[in-house]
Amino acid sequence: MQKLPGFRDFLPDDCAVRNYIFARWREVARRYGFVEWEGPILEPTELYKKKSGSEIVDQLFNFTDKGEREVAMRPELTPTLARVVAAHEREFKKPLKWFSIGRFFRFEKQQRGRLREHFQLNCDIIGETALAADIELLALCIDLLRAFGLTENDVVVRISDREFWTDFLRERNVPADRWDNLLQVIDKFGRESREKTIEKLGELADLVLKVLSEGGKSEKLDRLVDGLRDRGLAEFVDIDVRIVRGLAYYTGIVFELFDRAGNLRAIAGGGRYDNLIQQLSDDAVSMPALGFAMGDVVLGEVVNETPHALKQMQQAIAAERKIDIYVVIAKEKHRADALAQIQQLRDHGYRVDYPLTPTKVARQFQAAEDGGASLALLYGDEWPQVKVKNLTTREESLIPNKALLDSVAKFFNVPDSA
Ligand code: HAM
Repeated sequence: MQKLPGFRDFLPDDCAVRNYIFARWREVARRYGFVEWEGPILEPTELYKKKSGSEIVDQLFNFTDKGEREVAMRPELTPTLARVVAAHEREFKKPLKWFSIGRFFRFEKQQRGRLREHFQLNCDIIGETALAADIELLALCIDLLRAFGLTENDVVVRISDREFWTDFLRERNVPADRWDNLLQVIDKFGRESREKTIEKLGELADLVLKVLSEGGKSEKLDRLVDGLRDRGLAEFVDIDVRIVRGLAYYTGIVFELFDRAGNLRAIAGGGRYDNLIQQLSDDAVSMPALGFAMGDVVLGEVVNETPHALKQMQQAIAAERKIDIYVVIAKEKHRADALAQIQQLRDHGYRVDYPLTPTKVARQFQAAEDGGASLALLYGDEWPQVKVKNLTTREESLIPNKALLDSVAKFFNVPDSA
């Protein structure tokens, strides 16, 4: 039996990478005062049909359940977040700063950086219109990458403003019901043929293409970059009005994060969606919101391709994998004594391993090395003393078993083993 295309098995090495990514995501989000929440994996298909836009609806993993409901595996979190906030809005003080780490599903053509199942970190701020919130969110996004050892030479955030384009269209008297379609064409610029773009833009083609090639300016975007400059993060960002984002609900500042070399698809993307919560609320609760999602697939590739980030990850994974202590059972008659102390050591938080069945002493020491243990404890003829071996210096000492916990605590610099 083969696994389905675009899905992944996580063998221990893959899980270690995933845990490394999640730990940094969680740690940095907490540094910014975000709190964790989660939604269901399955939602009514209607939730995405309403607001996400046609591209994502075409990619839905959807089916009819046994209760005849039309349901979809979630392709993204934002509609769920809007639904949840609209329903529980009164229970929380604004602004909300919420993050979530979870699995998402899109029926995409499998290619580099794109699978049918991936993990995202979502960070959203709800209930704040001030540009300070956009700056804070971008700083968080950049700091997340810095936590992986990535610098402004490795990654770039391209920032834009949908209002730049809606103002542009309004000034040219383009009816508002055409805006969404035109923004989709701008989003696909460079991915679709030039002829197709020109045909879809119609009478606006010359003007729009001029802005796309020359770039655009906006006072709001300048203020945003200034805010990041105050934090020493301006080198990470470029203003780029070609970014409008594929999802239909964005209303203001939008951004995407890329590797500087430009080899890969976006690492993260997001922006303001000031109308979505109101549109999903029964009593039309108006609630400005902004957020982004960062995916594990492209991020993993960027880390792999950036030697200093890769080294940092490998060292962190090796340190996380290590056990502290290996218990060598040299004489089987002391197995029960050893197990009693293993239990105690584990209760005190040490990572302890030992042979489940009778094993030659040399093989047990090999297992201690393989597991990265710093200490070996040998239970043999010395009992009721235990032979303690420092596996780095090879020094050995005999410790009465009653004093073992204190001795181990001293070795690992644990202040109080009681
Ligand atoms: P998105 O740009 O569709 O935004 O996805 C965010 C990130 O998820 C992408 O930049 C990419 O790294 C990753 N990603 C998306 N699809 C795949 C895939 N098929 N395989 C691997 N990675 C993928 C959103 O989802 C918005 N809901 C983000 C947001 C949150 N906006 C406001 N709040």
